[in-house]
Amino acid sequence: MNTNTNVSDCLELMRKLVEYRQQKALHHQLMKAADCSMLGIDAIVMLYHCAKVSVGDVLEVGAYIGEATIAMAMGVRDSATEKKIISIERGCCVDHPRVGTKDSFKDLMKNLKRFGFLDQVTLINGCSFDPNTIAMVRQMPMSVAISTPLATDLPIAAGS
Ligand SMILES: C[S@@+](CC[C@H](N)C(=O)[O-])C[C@H]1O[C@@H](n2cnc3c(N)ncnc32)[C@H](O)[C@@H]1O
Repeated sequence: MNTNTNVSDCLELMRKLVEYRQQKALHHQLMKAADCSMLGIDAIVMLYHCAKVSVGDVLEVGAYIGEATIAMAMGVRDSATEKKIISIERGCCVDHPRVGTKDSFKDLMKNLKRFGFLDQVTLINGCSFDPNTIAMVRQMPMSVAISTPLATDLPIAAGS
């Protein structure tokens, strides 16, 4: 382990994250995405960055109503390379004043459409443990898996 490289990587990452915050239009978009997310703006900015710099496609498990998905779709949009986002959401109903939903999968599609990313994301409406979901995921080559559920029955859906 090279400590100097680690420190300089951390500083470079911090510099990048600050830079995104200083890009007013981008930061405004990311704030809008974070608005109805269970995640805070720092996590949203980090997901944007990961999707932007990742070398391969992105697998998300537990998209809920899509705000992290939207941040990652923005990252892919602003990336120099072409990559796919595959998002798995089993669907749930949550009673919450800010981020509540009667049908998370329906709201996921609605929010992706609102931000103009519905066609850029491959959605799978299922549980990550379901053999059908695993079979679908296995057909798609990918290299980065991002899982955001805070749920206890958490997922690893089977990347290839
Ligand atoms: C904490 S929320 C995710 C937060 C979300 N990414 C955001 O940006 O606000 C957890 C989500 O994961 C989904 N989920 C939990 N376990 C899952 C599983 N095994 N397969 C698919 N979805 C799952 C739930 O339905 C819920 O929508």
